[in-house]
Amino acid sequence: MTKILGIETTCDETSTAVVQDKRIVLSNIVASQAKLHSKYGGVVPEVASRKHLELLPVVTKEAFKKSNTKINELKAIAVSKEPGLPPALTVGYGFASGLALSNNLPLIEVNHLEAHISGIWLAKNKKELKKIKYPYLCLLVSGGHTEIRLVTNSSQTKIIGKTRDDAAGEAFDKIARLLDLGYPGGPVINKISRLGNESTYDFPRPMIKSNNYDFSFSGLKTAVKKKVSTIQKECNRYSEQKDLYSELCNNWKSDIAASFQEAVVDVLISKTVNAAKQLKVNIITMAGGVSANSRLRDKLGRIAYKENFDIYYPDLEYCVDNAAMVASRGFEMI
Ligand code: KG4
Ligand code: ZN
Repeated sequence: MTKILGIETTCDETSTAVVQDKRIVLSNIVASQAKLHSKYGGVVPEVASRKHLELLPVVTKEAFKKSNTKINELKAIAVSKEPGLPPALTVGYGFASGLALSNNLPLIEVNHLEAHISGIWLAKNKKELKKIKYPYLCLLVSGGHTEIRLVTNSSQTKIIGKTRDDAAGEAFDKIARLLDLGYPGGPVINKISRLGNESTYDFPRPMIKSNNYDFSFSGLKTAVKKKVSTIQKECNRYSEQKDLYSELCNNWKSDIAASFQEAVVDVLISKTVNAAKQLKVNIITMAGGVSANSRLRDKLGRIAYKENFDIYYPDLEYCVDNAAMVASRGFEMI
């Protein structure tokens, strides 16, 4: 029985976790700073790093308490080293190094994206996990990255395709800001899309037909922006005519959100399924905050069933940033 402490501070989640034998989460404490950054419409690195400094001792104490673990029972400490916001990373790395040094423990420097990919091993349904065999494809969709990776074994991944501009999560955040829905944008767009109709606006599916597995979301963002500006102008024009106004101007945000989400989901699925077919890989996993999106999970699930692929998603709590995935990746690295 081996335990590793994981520490995560790449963006706006301060998290510490104790994981046993790569897959068993004994504690995973996540203090989200989302509310703090919401008033700025996005994460402010200096604010995040100061908050990490304040929260790290508190969440770490809680992670030890909840897992009933003493520091001398640990095999190592794993910390997200990159990529992320430099001031936030510095705080987490400094804290982890100090803790490791003063307790004579090895410090494992983990790549945050590889940690997301390892998040799949934390799923509660351990029986299902036994079916995941290398090589498999991982659709990695977070706030800063959108990639398709071929995972060949526990230490090697190959990038098959990636975004040429915005990441999928970043596009969700920008459209939410445009619609005045706050930060982070993904969860709220996902939620209000359920009230809208995804066929209302036929937004572009950028690069869906391109002969590679790369993505681009900036053109889609511009198309949504233009449509929103047209709707807002029309609503202003009809503000005196009650009937026309309510037909046009109530609920338009849900329709925009649903149509935008559908465009992103379609591109992500099309590229991933094509890559799996081309590479003759029949297992697909997902990782990162956007993999919590219910439309993406449902639609990919249905298409995978039709096309005979096996698909595995991380549990929702291990999609967004958390320290348990960092500790799990730590096991793979030692
Ligand atoms: O992986 P993550 O927690 O942080 C990064 O490493 O970037 O991902 C955060 C991103 C944010 O852009 C957020 O809006 C998005 O994941 N996200 C979602 C959902 N939940 C979080 N996007 C779409 N649908 C969701 N349900
Ligand atoms: Zn992340």
